[in-house]
Amino acid sequence: MRRGLEVQPPAAVPSRSVTEPQREVGVGPHPEPWPDDPRLDPELLAGGDRRNVVDGYRYWRREAIVADLDGRRHPFHVAVENWEHDLNIGTVVRNANAFLAAEVHVVGRRRWNRRGAMVTDRYQHVRHHATLAAFAGWAREAELPVLGIDNLPGAVAIDAFELPRRCALLFGQEGPGLSAEARALCEAVLAIRQFGSTRSINAAAASAVAMHEWVRRYAAAP
Ligand SMILES: C[S@@+](CC[C@H](N)C(=O)[O-])C[C@H]1O[C@@H](n2cnc3c(N)ncnc32)[C@H](O)[C@@H]1O
Repeated sequence: MRRGLEVQPPAAVPSRSVTEPQREVGVGPHPEPWPDDPRLDPELLAGGDRRNVVDGYRYWRREAIVADLDGRRHPFHVAVENWEHDLNIGTVVRNANAFLAAEVHVVGRRRWNRRGAMVTDRYQHVRHHATLAAFAGWAREAELPVLGIDNLPGAVAIDAFELPRRCALLFGQEGPGLSAEARALCEAVLAIRQFGSTRSINAAAASAVAMHEWVRRYAAAP
């Protein structure tokens, strides 16, 4: 009944051929009798569950999934500067969901492009701070060290750094990278090692690597 992780295809992708079989996403209606479990959503049980969720959450109500995630979120936060509507933010949110970050902080403009999030923002806490000062105030209150993630001169390699368990990882934008004001509030700036000719990887890719650096220290299986 349960299948591997399946991803919703974009809504309007034309099929290559009319005879090509359609790839089934998710699971169909649950056979009756239905399990007696208040976490399950009768509408999904009746109609099937085509959402992009892991198998263990099939047929669960959204609030039940969020509550379950809340019970085991990791104590690292992710923050990203948003002064120019960076298209990466949606993917940063998706990565934060995948690696179970406590929260995502969007600093600057409130609006961000949700496309890359692939609906994962429904299960992820996202908080907005209008200014870096407001974000810094929040981090101070929460007693979280802010660690900048950027390959700036003087940055320390993230794989060689003693990443604290409780921390906020702050990412810059495509183009400018971490702003000077952002750098000033960071206890350290950490770089992902690169070896090719490009100056940088994109912010969303960098967020996945940095979060995985946290995961391999504190949440990897023994
Ligand atoms: C496209 S980069 C731009 C800035 C970059 N400093 C440059 O020289 O071009 C945008 C963001 O992605 C992240 N990033 C990209 N490559 C990185 C790397 N090698 N190490 C750490 N962060 C990186 C940082 O958060 C950075 O602010």
